[in-house]
Amino acid sequence: MNQTALHRKLALKDLKDLKKVSSKKLFDLRVAANLPLIKELFYTLYSDPKYNRYFNELQELLPSLFQTRSDELKMHDLQLLKKGNWYQSEKMVGMQLYVDLFNKNLKGIEEKIPYFKELGINFLHLMPITTRPKGENDGGYAVNSYTAVDRKFGSKKDLLALTSKLRKNDIYLMLDFVVNHTSDEYPWAKKALKGSEKYQGYYYMFPDRTIPDAFEASLPEVFPATSPGNFTYRKEIDRWVMTVFNTYQWDLNYANPKVFLEMLSNLVAMVNSGVDVVRFDALAFLWKKIGTNSQNLPEAHMLITLFRMCLQTIAPGVIFLAEAIVAPKEIIKYFGEGNRKGNECEVAYNASLMALLWNSIATKKTLLLNKTLRNSPEKPEETTWINYVRCHDDIGLGLEDQYISELGWNPWLHRMFLLDYYCQGLDWSPAKGFKFMHNPSTGDGRITGSCASLLGLEKAMQNQQKEAVDKAIKKILMLHGIILSFGGIPLIYAGDELATLNDYSYLNDDHKKNDNRWVNRPSHQWETVAQLKDGDRPASIIFNGLKHMISLRKKIKLFSDTNNVVLHDAHNPHLFLYERIGKKKDGVLILANFDEHPQIIDSSVLVSLGYIKEGALHDILTNKKWPLSSGLVEVQPFQLLWLAKP
Ligand code: GLC
Repeated sequence: MNQTALHRKLALKDLKDLKKVSSKKLFDLRVAANLPLIKELFYTLYSDPKYNRYFNELQELLPSLFQTRSDELKMHDLQLLKKGNWYQSEKMVGMQLYVDLFNKNLKGIEEKIPYFKELGINFLHLMPITTRPKGENDGGYAVNSYTAVDRKFGSKKDLLALTSKLRKNDIYLMLDFVVNHTSDEYPWAKKALKGSEKYQGYYYMFPDRTIPDAFEASLPEVFPATSPGNFTYRKEIDRWVMTVFNTYQWDLNYANPKVFLEMLSNLVAMVNSGVDVVRFDALAFLWKKIGTNSQNLPEAHMLITLFRMCLQTIAPGVIFLAEAIVAPKEIIKYFGEGNRKGNECEVAYNASLMALLWNSIATKKTLLLNKTLRNSPEKPEETTWINYVRCHDDIGLGLEDQYISELGWNPWLHRMFLLDYYCQGLDWSPAKGFKFMHNPSTGDGRITGSCASLLGLEKAMQNQQKEAVDKAIKKILMLHGIILSFGGIPLIYAGDELATLNDYSYLNDDHKKNDNRWVNRPSHQWETVAQLKDGDRPASIIFNGLKHMISLRKKIKLFSDTNNVVLHDAHNPHLFLYERIGKKKDGVLILANFDEHPQIIDSSVLVSLGYIKEGALHDILTNKKWPLSSGLVEVQPFQLLWLAKP
């Protein structure tokens, strides 16, 4: 049993009469349950005896942080524990959005609760809302504070009002904890720039290039085109500062236990505004070591677990999402391994599925998708994925080279093909995307562009090609229908429900024009929303299609994530076939055709799985039953079926 399950048990025992239970008693129980692991992790990370006193500090810090949590949130924690693994439920459907781009400010988000409800959204990821540098700030991922709300979004009071309203409406909230770095305007950074040795020790700073060069020998670059290298020289202090992301994002030095203690306080202050899910930003980068790529290191995993186990004692309802956009076999480790299994993050982005879906669209084949998924280890039981098609970032080609080679393709050429297909390198491709951080010498690169533009809608509309428009619409619905039925929380990127195209206005903004991820960060189109009644427009078809699929998803208990996804072989390289199976031989079979031609599947496959009875099939999405006229079942281009088991 992992720690969450243990807490749930303890909480359930006492929940019968919540009013009578002292929250202090529950806190003491949680500390007792977690302390052995906390201690082990702490002493492994900070083994030097000179750090012993910091463990005592931590033990004193936990109860004082618990004091800062409001009674309402303490009760909310217990209610969440009582709900069990609520994050695995089929009822979960999320949306990710920029507050200002969506509807001006936090009050504007509150006003749009009816919109979320109409679509069926009950989980929101609000992009960073705290203070940030005025100029470039990586969309708020350069933080000047972990708690002070930036004025353009409103006030702390507005945030508390919003979170309370969301709770009343059963909408869960996710906010980012930018745990790897602060901005260079953060109070610690400012003090470090004034020469404070204490605060210089909160970051990685070096008087000359000796250590930076040693690091650089094996450190990859995150933003090679705009922010090459991993260190920035600051003449004010004649020091090289580690800046793995942008020059103004300073990496925190977690080898210093004081940094951990202070960041834990920041984390608690942040969740105390009413956060249910903490998005642990860029967590793969948390620990640095010369001679390695300083990503996914065992110490990073220990540190994340340490944060989590400590937070569990204070805010046990809050869960963690791993933002680790790394190789498939590395992502899974963020759920925890060994004695940390299930005790690290409950949720992780399914970046592999996302990249593989885009790969399948470009190749029109599902070979790599199937091969990779089949070879992926099963995640721990208490965990789940965030399944997504697009987000605010670029699409990284996180594909396993070994599998690409095993399919007989050259990995380097394959990646070149994908970049060309999506980034206007091939005349015949319907996609309109852009290369991001492309390095012509290595061929490395990522892709930006909105879901609709990458799937061909922008070009089709420009060229007024009705057939191509229809095709793009089908693809958008098919990909979303997959994330809505695959195990995990589907997260829709705001705007994609309206088939929003690329937004080129960022080119007019000096602080954005060098970062083309802004092409897929559009303002929400409320004029389009006002015209949704006009059912023939692409936006209306997509919105209504998603709304329909979401409402169906919520009715299908088997869509709750209990590790019940089974992949099947459709014996056709263009088809993706998987089943959500129940314990009582019940199930739903999902079938998607990635090709632009009709494809067939041998009906004996469907018969043997139990989905054809008396010669007929039943599709849940269209609620149509149809008899088979031959031994083959035809699947139309980009068609998606959710087949019911008779
Ligand atoms: C995450 C965010 C990305 C940001 C980076 C640095 O990957 O998703 O937008 O640039 O972290 O904070």
